[in-house]
Amino acid sequence: MLFQSPRGTKDILPEESSKWQTIESRTRKIFSIFGFEEIRTPLIEEAKLFARSLGDFTDIVQKQMFLIKKETDMFVLRPEATASIVRAYVEHDLYNISNICKFYYMGPMFRAERPQKGRLRQFHHIGAEAIGSANPFLDAELILLATRIITESGLSDFEVVVNTLGCQDDKKKMSANLKEKLAPHKKSFCADCVLRIDKNIFRVLDCKNPQCKDIIASLSWAQTHICSDCQKHFESVLAALDMFGVRYKVNPLLVRGLDYYTRTVFEITSNELGAQDALGAGGRYDNLVEELGGPSRGAVGFALGVERLLLACREKISEMSGSFLECYVIPLGEAALKKSLSVLNDLRSAGISSDLDYLEGSLKARLRRADKKNSRFCLIIGDNELAKGVGLLKDMARSSQEEVPLTELVEKIKSSKSEV
Ligand code: HAM
Repeated sequence: MLFQSPRGTKDILPEESSKWQTIESRTRKIFSIFGFEEIRTPLIEEAKLFARSLGDFTDIVQKQMFLIKKETDMFVLRPEATASIVRAYVEHDLYNISNICKFYYMGPMFRAERPQKGRLRQFHHIGAEAIGSANPFLDAELILLATRIITESGLSDFEVVVNTLGCQDDKKKMSANLKEKLAPHKKSFCADCVLRIDKNIFRVLDCKNPQCKDIIASLSWAQTHICSDCQKHFESVLAALDMFGVRYKVNPLLVRGLDYYTRTVFEITSNELGAQDALGAGGRYDNLVEELGGPSRGAVGFALGVERLLLACREKISEMSGSFLECYVIPLGEAALKKSLSVLNDLRSAGISSDLDYLEGSLKARLRRADKKNSRFCLIIGDNELAKGVGLLKDMARSSQEEVPLTELVEKIKSSKSEV
């Protein structure tokens, strides 16, 4: 093999892409039901945007950015889309257009991670961002939206974990409390965590090293650092989740790997996934709009990993998809091929999905190809049919066949469609 796709990237071949389309089309429908509109931002951004938004000492900014240097400018393949969307919101003064802007997006993200099952270097997000309000019901609405996308993709076995980080002051207090609690264990942490304790202590809570995880699990932790406003906000989020019937678990040590979060954070996990068990995650980022040069606006969002969603509901998706062709035309001979081209054109002009069998071979082999294409009908045109101005229409679903005048073909297929 001369070339392969780069490590940590995947070709999505047609059989697989039909599953993607199923998820994407269902998701677009859900987004529109919830009042979200699509936003598309560039795949490259200035590198500084992410350092400023996600934080200098996050894993993404420290280790995972695909950087592109062009003359004196430094760009990056976007590792996530929240920062890009807030950048666009500020750049285009979208706060003047609507009080709350509800965006959704779908597309590739890039992180230079060590590839493994469920962890890629190019992966895809389906995400939503609601910018313009600090109302706690919006947090619950976004969590509900994320769970709705997951259930409509066919998955029922997942867990929603929520927490509040509080405001910036509360986060500072949490950081001081953690430092105090972790200090006696410092020597037992991995080398990365020893650095994290000084630079960005919350990252210690995300460490996957078993020894670090054990120390974290042994901590007795109380949310004493959360101020009363933030506590009230969190209680309202939980009450709204109860009202929506979303089941959740509160984990006071859930912090998430990006610095822009304040108040609500959440993660949705699935047992179907193995070590990389997060299907998606999100939270509130009330300071980011201002941080990127805009006015003070509350915001909340989430992103689901499409590859992980597909991994978790593999079987169920394949039941719902599969490409479906309505008519596969098989011409027998040179003269029939010419006629078939105009028949094909008529079918397609009438909105009937159809294709032509250009390859030679026995009729049996050609019918097998029609079957592989999952075609409902197969139209055979040979010299006899040409002479009579008809085609032999095989109904693959009913295993029946009849001669149909070519002038009546479109009507015939359309009326059979409505019978199925
Ligand atoms: P995140 O947790 O970094 O959040 O990514 C969200 C989801 O993307 C993860 O839960 C996981 O399913 C998937 N994911 C992340 N990295 C990879 C990878 N290397 N390979 C495969 N899947 C991956 C964010 O990116 C935030 N922007 C979410 C957000 C939106 N918060 C507020 N608004």
